[in-house]
Amino acid sequence: MSSYSRATDRYTKPAIFFHWAIFLLVALAYLAIEIRGPRGSDSRIFWTGVHFWAGTLVLGLSVLRLLWRLWAGAPAEIENNRLLAFLARAAHLALYVFIFAQPLLGMLMVNAGGRPVSLAWTNISFTLIGADSIARPLLRDAHELLGNVFYWVIGLHALAAIAHHVIFKDRALKRMI
Ligand code: HEM
Ligand code: HEM
Repeated sequence: MSSYSRATDRYTKPAIFFHWAIFLLVALAYLAIEIRGPRGSDSRIFWTGVHFWAGTLVLGLSVLRLLWRLWAGAPAEIENNRLLAFLARAAHLALYVFIFAQPLLGMLMVNAGGRPVSLAWTNISFTLIGADSIARPLLRDAHELLGNVFYWVIGLHALAAIAHHVIFKDRALKRMI
């Protein structure tokens, strides 16, 4: 039997892996920023390295995740209330945009500041754009704004999943585990 079946009420194993791996890496990127410490400290260098790594892995996994989503599809929607279905779709679309846009903004910000993105503890470093003193503060503001807004979007998305499990008692959360 083909693995492409909309009749199964579950996300596929790769989809589940991508969802939770990206969640953990996004959480790590946020944590690293929260605890990085003062400018010039060893702690700041270490946690900035972790931040760059986590964000870069988010972008890489997001490309694979999107390709897999296009290949394998997703199980049928659970929501039968039109407004809730709309909100769920809007949140999922926004989360997909976020996992691409946020790491890219971070990389472009670093490059616009005249530095390559260097992945700590390896020799890997790359440059997407050249130094740009006008773009840098705009990219920085966009990275900061998106970072702040998505604390809330991610929180509401997680609350919705928990509400499905605890209040509506349906399979929404179980089929992503
Ligand atoms: C999903 C991935 C990412 C998330 C959730 C994220 C989130 C954040 C947040 C919340 C901040 C703090 C903004 C503030 O209030 O000052 C920040 C700062 C920063 N991020 Fe990211 N980021 C991600 C990926 C990246 C990547 C891939 C890079 C570069 C390779 C990067 C580079 C930076 C830099 C350099 C800062 C410090 C800006 C400053 O203090 O001047 N980020 N990020
Ligand atoms: C960085 C954090 C997160 C991101 C970026 C994210 C992203 C997404 C995206 C894009 C989808 C749609 C999947 C698709 O149709 O391909 C989704 C579905 C889902 N997420 Fe998250 N998510 C995050 C955190 C969480 C957390 C913390 C929970 C649970 C507490 C959660 C539970 C779920 C569930 C249950 C679904 C399936 C919803 C359904 O079938 O209608 N997510 N997530």
